[in-house]
Amino acid sequence: MADLKVSGLHKFYGKFHALKGIDLEVPSGEFTVFVGPSGCGKSTLLRTVAGLEEASGGRIEIGGKDVTWARPRDRDIAMVFQNYALYPYLSVEDNIAFGLRARKFAEAETQKRVARAAEMLGIGALLKRFPRELSGGQRQRVAIGRAIVRDALLFLFDEPLSNLDAQLRDDMRVEIKRLHQELKRTMIYVTHDQIEAMTLADRIVLLRDGVIEQQGSPLALFERPATKFVAGFLGSPKMNFLKGRIGKGVVTLEDGAKLPLPSPKGKEGGAVIVGIRPQHISLGAKGSRTAHHVIVELVQPTGTRLHATIPFGGSTIVGEFDAHAATKPGAQLAIEIDMSRAAIIDPATDKVI
Ligand SMILES: Nc1ncnc2c1ncn2[C@@H]1O[C@H](COP(=O)(O)OP(=O)(O)OP(=O)(O)O)[C@@H](O)[C@H]1O
Ligand SMILES: [Mg+2]
Repeated sequence: MADLKVSGLHKFYGKFHALKGIDLEVPSGEFTVFVGPSGCGKSTLLRTVAGLEEASGGRIEIGGKDVTWARPRDRDIAMVFQNYALYPYLSVEDNIAFGLRARKFAEAETQKRVARAAEMLGIGALLKRFPRELSGGQRQRVAIGRAIVRDALLFLFDEPLSNLDAQLRDDMRVEIKRLHQELKRTMIYVTHDQIEAMTLADRIVLLRDGVIEQQGSPLALFERPATKFVAGFLGSPKMNFLKGRIGKGVVTLEDGAKLPLPSPKGKEGGAVIVGIRPQHISLGAKGSRTAHHVIVELVQPTGTRLHATIPFGGSTIVGEFDAHAATKPGAQLAIEIDMSRAAIIDPATDKVI
């Protein structure tokens, strides 16, 4: 069953059309991530689902019940905000217990739930402290604890990790994934970070300018993007885009270089954009018939891998190689491009053919 069903949802802020007809179903127990560039409407969508913003049109169902006009507290949701929003004059324990006490839970049950949440989040030793006595990551755990003690049907997270440093983000991401596996609850998580989306999601909903550009499993979106936007948004380093024309079994790039087309795409002579992920470029043998001979312009070592910027095909591409590939600026390389994994894009529509 879908714990959340959104149909034809619109949101206007004055004349500004922030959500333009969103249709969405979130199955029970699933971890869904809303991702997209800044300003695309992720928070607006989440806040409208939560009832913190009023819908301008359409319908929202939670647990099979129409809640389009229901108050937030009547929607069976628990939400974690980006800025924690902890009560400064309450201890960690009282912050976590706050929602339960407000709902008149028995004190014994409240204590039990707070203790369990604190244990799951590794903040059991901090219960008597005040928010100002905590690090950013610890505060974040308290905010999450406050949400998970509730029995809500839907857990909503709006960029909960964006105030944390990179290391802590990585750790908390693991915690959130573990939490989902333990609680088996339906969670919706907003982020603009495509890596966070890829690593956390059962399903990604990729938003752009108030519409859903594509939704599906992380791997489906990564391997079969529907549009140039999706192809470019997911993946790091970004997918390379090269302009070309369809020939007989090949794409001819702007500088005349030819790439083989594994299957027929588009019509001969038609303009296309070839999308190639840096990971699908490899080092070939010098003199190989399928290799392209190029000269490296710039290298960026990352520790395990190395990103090389290479002029190619009338443009510049980035290839990802082993850190120990003996590559430096000015070096000659023979590269092989795995065209079976390339995206061929129609520049008129930006759709993947
Ligand atoms: N209260 C408001 N009044 C007017 N416009 C708003 C309001 N809230 C949001 N918007 C506009 O709606 C659009 C979507 O905003 P939203 O906050 O949903 O973006 P977002 O995807 O969450 O971005 P970010 O990643 O930066 O948080 C933006 O263009 C924003 O300027
Ligand atoms: Mg936002």
